[in-house]
Amino acid sequence: MKPPLRIGIIGLGGYAGAHHENLQKLEAQGHARLVCTCDPRAATFAAEQPNRDFARRGVQVFTDYRSMLDACGHELDMLVIPTPISLHAEMHRASVERGIAAYLEKPPTLDYRELEQMIVTDRAAKKTTLVGFNFIIERARLALKQRLLNGDFGPLREARLIAQWPRPASYFARNNWAGRLLAPDGGVVLDSCFGNAMAHFVHNLLFWAGPSTLMSWGQPETVRAELYRAHRIEGADTFFVESRTQEGVTLRFALTHACDGESQHAETVVCEKATLHYIVGKRVEIRWHDGRVEPVALDAFDALAENHLDYYRYIRGETDRPATTLVDSRPFVTLNNLAYISSGEITALPTDAVRSVIHPRDAQSYLAVEGLPNVLNDFLSQGRWPGTTLGWRTGAPSTLVTRADLPRFMPTLHALASR
Ligand SMILES: NC(=O)c1ccc[n+]([C@@H]2O[C@H](COP(=O)([O-])OP(=O)(O)OC[C@H]3O[C@@H](n4cnc5c(N)ncnc54)[C@H](O)[C@@H]3O)[C@@H](O)[C@H]2O)c1
Repeated sequence: MKPPLRIGIIGLGGYAGAHHENLQKLEAQGHARLVCTCDPRAATFAAEQPNRDFARRGVQVFTDYRSMLDACGHELDMLVIPTPISLHAEMHRASVERGIAAYLEKPPTLDYRELEQMIVTDRAAKKTTLVGFNFIIERARLALKQRLLNGDFGPLREARLIAQWPRPASYFARNNWAGRLLAPDGGVVLDSCFGNAMAHFVHNLLFWAGPSTLMSWGQPETVRAELYRAHRIEGADTFFVESRTQEGVTLRFALTHACDGESQHAETVVCEKATLHYIVGKRVEIRWHDGRVEPVALDAFDALAENHLDYYRYIRGETDRPATTLVDSRPFVTLNNLAYISSGEITALPTDAVRSVIHPRDAQSYLAVEGLPNVLNDFLSQGRWPGTTLGWRTGAPSTLVTRADLPRFMPTLHALASR
């Protein structure tokens, strides 16, 4: 057995808590050892999380990540950064400057300009940073992408995604950046189902459209989007987005947190000879256009453990690259930013269609929009925009934008935030 990788985790709560749980498991299996952790609210978490067992495990706990890196950085092989998105860039830089491999939670940033700076920073990294998009390394996904590239299904025409994940009111109060466009200091936050909770699936869609090699992502050439909100938030909770990649593949996706019931998500990849139906965590099948249905085995997949172990292999020199790098995240961040520019407004959904539901599962309060599931499906299958067909938009129709429009990103955000 190889010596365990020595790891630091910034943060103790939120998704950092999931990394801690995962690491306790990997530590017990001998893969890794937690050396240090930190959180400005470390004392609160110490009381709430006695099962972390830091004293027995010899884990040093700090309230500031810089003090932690000053004290323990020389001992670390890897630093996990599962913190608020607006802190990613500075924490990533601190990791690279100390020669520590960074496991940076997705999204790396939601500001295309900051991403370019992070890419430059990463060129000096001893080990290329991993961006923690969870589902790229699924075996079934990699095998299907390879078959796609081999031409088994004929040319790729379209990739579609629908995702409806209900989120209760408390979700939008979970921290001081939830549902926000900008931080109080003017930094870009852009928290939304697109940028945060469902980011994995949008990145997956771009992965299907990656034209050249297995680990390639489609580059959005044109983007059109409509953004809506049902919740009383600054940002959007519902997205309709269509993009054409440089290779002429149409990507269309509809995402919402303004729903109730069970969470649903599905990726559909339409090729000339077959359509792939991929539902993460549930089912994958190939529906050949001659009528045959080919089921695809979907292995049990513990996303955090698998992604940690995959990155450990890269750090140890056993593989030649991390699953998703900062450069690979460019299409995702560009697509996200262009969606805001294209829409130019975040429209309140018609109030008479929005109803409040208490779900018996958790006794929490959800907002759901009457008829929205049909509207999402109509958009996905027929490209029907609710702004024009249902008159949902209050302003002019959204516009088709390209990368050349990116300089309008900050003025657009400021205009949206001031409304
Ligand atoms: N991969 C996934 O499936 C997944 C799921 C959820 C969240 N995320 C990502 O994880 C990241 C964190 O999201 P979150 O909702 O947990 O955020 P959060 O606001 O709950 O923050 C996470 C932790 O960071 C701590 N923190 C805040 N400021 C800090 C600082 N200056 N120094 C050290 N620690 C600090 C917080 O106290 C908290 O414990 C985001 O990038 C998010 O998109 C990923």
